[in-house]
Amino acid sequence: MAPRTDPRQRIRAEIETIVGRHDEPAVYDGPAGDPGLAGGPGSISWEINGDLASVLSAGMAAILMEVLHPSVMSGVFQQSTYDTQPLRRARNTLGYVMRTTFGTTEAATAVIDRVHRVHARIEGTRPDGVPYRALDPELIAWVHTCIPWAVMEAFHRYRRPLTTAERDRYLREQATIGRMGGAEWVPETMDELDAYVERMRPLMSRNEELSSFIAFLTGERDGEFHLGAAAQAQKRLDLASSMTLMPAWAQKLTGTHRSPAMQRLVLLPNAHLQARIIRWAYPEPPCKAMAVDRATAAVPVSGDT
Ligand code: HEM
Repeated sequence: MAPRTDPRQRIRAEIETIVGRHDEPAVYDGPAGDPGLAGGPGSISWEINGDLASVLSAGMAAILMEVLHPSVMSGVFQQSTYDTQPLRRARNTLGYVMRTTFGTTEAATAVIDRVHRVHARIEGTRPDGVPYRALDPELIAWVHTCIPWAVMEAFHRYRRPLTTAERDRYLREQATIGRMGGAEWVPETMDELDAYVERMRPLMSRNEELSSFIAFLTGERDGEFHLGAAAQAQKRLDLASSMTLMPAWAQKLTGTHRSPAMQRLVLLPNAHLQARIIRWAYPEPPCKAMAVDRATAAVPVSGDT
């Protein structure tokens, strides 16, 4: 008889296979007392980004919002390995969020610099003839904003309600990371976020690249990652569930909008259940405990050995 595996361990292992473990001592252990870039223990960034269920529930919504901007879509579509190495991309993206929030100041700065160097090579022309470059501060600002926006909405819904003051604090803490990544300005309050999204909205569109990208995410594109009909339906459901965190106009543009009844009876229960399962199996990423130990360790006074 095959050995029985603990369901919690099995789910943890499945999650780690997809998004990685994020417990590298060189990144999260380090100088005693170092809070890193996002505020350290007691910050709202550590509370929100330390809830893996919220971060993972927000992941697909954040990505779709980013690529609704056709310049970002072209960069990713034309120059990313998302369709040949999707697991590597998922791990690096989550790794960026974890490192910049929980990593030592040195490790967080190093990953921002490394990603900056990757982006420096990314430029080209969109299908409609508009040139783009990843280091355009406006594009960096948009991609940066989509991540904390989606994660904060997921936390608010799946973990605990956030006050406007807490949301403002989170955006402000995360803004440091966006600016270090090359943005000149990013929203730091909910009022600024709402106004910014309205300003950006006319720039968003769905083109063939986005349709093909979505078909890849849902397993409909031919090739190595093509899925059967049932698995495709589940992926479409997961995508639409994640996108319920985002405004209706964005759901409509991405083809993830569903009727209110479908949202209430299927998408939201699906999303809540998945978040609950993740939190049960994997309440927080290992890097958070490592970071708390580091940041709260007694700082040696000079002369100590
Ligand atoms: C703050 C904004 C952004 C963040 C946090 C971010 C994050 C990342 C990360 C973590 C990587 C992986 C680097 C690696 O480890 O190999 C990456 C690569 C990449 N990014 Fe960004 N990015 C941002 C903005 C953009 C923009 C605006 C574009 C396009 C216009 C873009 C296109 C790409 C592409 C094409 C790659 C290469 C991926 C590959 O090799 O498959 N990124 N980005």
